[in-house]
Amino acid sequence: KELVFSGVQPTGNLHLGNYLGAIKRFVEMQDREAQCLYCVVDLHAITVWQDPAALRSQIREVTAAFLAAGIDPARSIVFNQSQVPQHAELAWIFNCVARLGWLNRMTQFKEKAGKDRENASIGLYAYPVLMAADILAYRATHVPVGEDQKQHLELTRDIAQKFNTDFAGSITAHGHGEVFFPVTEPLIGGPAARVMSLRDGTKKMSKSDASDNARINLTDDADAIAQKVRRAKTDPEPLPSEVAGLKDRPEADNLVGIYAALAGTTREGVLRDFGGAQFSTFKPALSDLAVSSLAPIAAEMRRLTADPGHIDAVLADGAARAEQIAAGTLDAVKDIVGFVRRG
Ligand code: TYM
Repeated sequence: KELVFSGVQPTGNLHLGNYLGAIKRFVEMQDREAQCLYCVVDLHAITVWQDPAALRSQIREVTAAFLAAGIDPARSIVFNQSQVPQHAELAWIFNCVARLGWLNRMTQFKEKAGKDRENASIGLYAYPVLMAADILAYRATHVPVGEDQKQHLELTRDIAQKFNTDFAGSITAHGHGEVFFPVTEPLIGGPAARVMSLRDGTKKMSKSDASDNARINLTDDADAIAQKVRRAKTDPEPLPSEVAGLKDRPEADNLVGIYAALAGTTREGVLRDFGGAQFSTFKPALSDLAVSSLAPIAAEMRRLTADPGHIDAVLADGAARAEQIAAGTLDAVKDIVGFVRRG
């Protein structure tokens, strides 16, 4: 049986990369798969210090973005991670399965910890183990994410496999067959798996870029979007008519990829329409498309965040439904590992 899980950190500035690489695809999965869980990962957020009041409002803002983008909380389970204690509980057990050597290879930790690694939190280091727990608490089979999460999903598979072999005998003895945790399939793809900065086509679009002009935020208004697209870095050549012509043109490649993802087509499809066009023609078209796609989402987010009580009720309901599934997994895991538990 297929089950989809994914998460987004409530750390501010949700941007076009988060939308096209993840949230827009969450909505598409919802229409195809039986059960989807979409989680606001607040436990991950605090691996670097967050202002408590800002964190609380960002949890609600990411939830609002999910709903505004089209995630239906009646069909999908929408919740924040800290309300389901099994995530942290399973993460501890996985801390004892994962190896130091595996975590030492994680490139995102190296980037985020920077030069002052001695001063990074233990949580930041163990971050990918918690991510594995998020996914495997539901024994999720499919995880839609952007390209930057690929290495973390490989670690999730390694943890699942090591658990399955380390406890093979106990898994069978408790009637769970041969494998307890599935080997999760990462769903990374589409034309916007890696949306780049508008100011530098070799850098990822990110929440933390010092320049707000480098990204389109989900809450930007039409003027801001138009201005950022107009100012986006380009090269002097017109657009090529073949995808191969985008090679070594990172900014052109990025804008064509963004257009393709917004329009629900491919780079080929975009170049069929715009091959040979100058950026002076392409940019206004891109800007119009971005505004018409994002403005309704921003408006709906504003409407939803005006009523935090409603958002909190959605999260509470989602957490209760998520916990039902996760508690079943944890009971089984405790038996498999050899813990003594109540009833
Ligand atoms: P986060 O919060 O950094 O990003 C949320 C989602 O957005 C994608 N993304 C991008 N996609 C394309 N282009 C970009 N420039 C871009 N920037 C971000 C991310 O790949 C992600 O899919 N560790 C995760 C959160 C997480 C999670 C999980 C995901 C925690 N537990 C379990 C899946 C399953 C993160 O930091 O995402």
